[in-house]
Amino acid sequence: MKMSRRVEHLLPYLFVEINKKIAEKKAKGEEVVSFAVGDPDIPTPTNIIDKLCQAAKDPANHRYPETEGLPELRQAIAEWYKKRFGVSLDADKEVLPLIGAKEGIAHIALCFIDYRDIALVPDPAYPVYSVSTMLASGSPYYLPLTEENNFLPDLDAIPTHVLRRAKLLWLNYPNNPTGAVADLDFFNRVVEFARHHDLAVCHDGPYSEVAFDGYQPVSFMQADGAKEVGVEFHSLSKTYNMTGWRIGMVVGNAAMIDALKRVKSNLDSGIPQAIQYAGIEALTGSQDCIQEHNAIYQRRRDLVIEVLNNMGLKAQPPKASLLIWAKVPEGYTSVDFATDLLERVGVVVTPGVSYGKHGEGYIRLSLTVPDAALVRGLSQLATWRDTRRRLRPGIDFT
Ligand SMILES: Cc1ncc(COP(=O)(O)O)c(C=O)c1O
Repeated sequence: MKMSRRVEHLLPYLFVEINKKIAEKKAKGEEVVSFAVGDPDIPTPTNIIDKLCQAAKDPANHRYPETEGLPELRQAIAEWYKKRFGVSLDADKEVLPLIGAKEGIAHIALCFIDYRDIALVPDPAYPVYSVSTMLASGSPYYLPLTEENNFLPDLDAIPTHVLRRAKLLWLNYPNNPTGAVADLDFFNRVVEFARHHDLAVCHDGPYSEVAFDGYQPVSFMQADGAKEVGVEFHSLSKTYNMTGWRIGMVVGNAAMIDALKRVKSNLDSGIPQAIQYAGIEALTGSQDCIQEHNAIYQRRRDLVIEVLNNMGLKAQPPKASLLIWAKVPEGYTSVDFATDLLERVGVVVTPGVSYGKHGEGYIRLSLTVPDAALVRGLSQLATWRDTRRRLRPGIDFT
């Protein structure tokens, strides 16, 4: 049997490896608390589940759905964008429901990338932007996100020969893994840049509703002319704790949406209809859950930051996202430090380098850990310094 070269070069998805390590530890009877995966621990709100159960009993929803989704779902998405961001969308041409944002992010590469084409991809970043580029036989060109640039890419630093071959520009704010945010000025500059270099912009914004201290993230679609040059991927996963149901959307440029619809209609059969009805309920029903969840995440954020700072790690409280991006102590790589935390205090974090070369020197912690486990994990983390002192007496770790 001969696998394709693209599969031979494909590493297992990051969290497959991490979950394996956790399972090994647990099998030995060791207690492990994982801050690794950004998967909301709080259940999906009851009104959404009730609608899902009701829709699941209707035989009309037992059949193949349409790729483009129910018209009522597309309308609900358009209305949500209008209400939340003041952005007007044509529900037939500028909205496409997805089987989770990840699915659309992966498939859109097939609409733009041919052999040797370039996609401009932030580094560090959600891995799917670069992997989907490579699966489509293209090459990612990485845009470093550094603390000095507030984790925004320096678009002017991209060489002309790269821009000539580039077709897609990937962006993601509030950002995974850094927790950084972007403002409208930045997005307006992105539109100008994309126009000038004939790039299609794919902005990924699934964390726009997870925000703290009264901060309200903006949408790329609010930028002047955004619809001419790009789309925004979004998701119900993080806003309504619906990761398990697989429902997201892409909105914006009609030609890009049409191309993705063509690819998807040949490859998948859409979102199960009962889940689409649950999605409509999420978008049009009470939005109170968002503030309730954010209050929980904000409390957790502050606890985690306090413990990390006490450990001597530098970490800024993010304004949005479910993620904390912390600098590892001097003398460690991100993998060394993540391994040290797992081995010594049974806490799992993600090494920053797994999100790209420029993630080196950081670890990522997710706030989606249930309160009791979070407290346990934080007290385990708080003992890390003592375990170091015991091992190397006389060395000052302050
Ligand atoms: C930046 C980013 N985009 C997309 C996704 C995937 O969203 P979905 O659950 O809708 O596939 C994630 C999930 O963690 C993410 O962090």
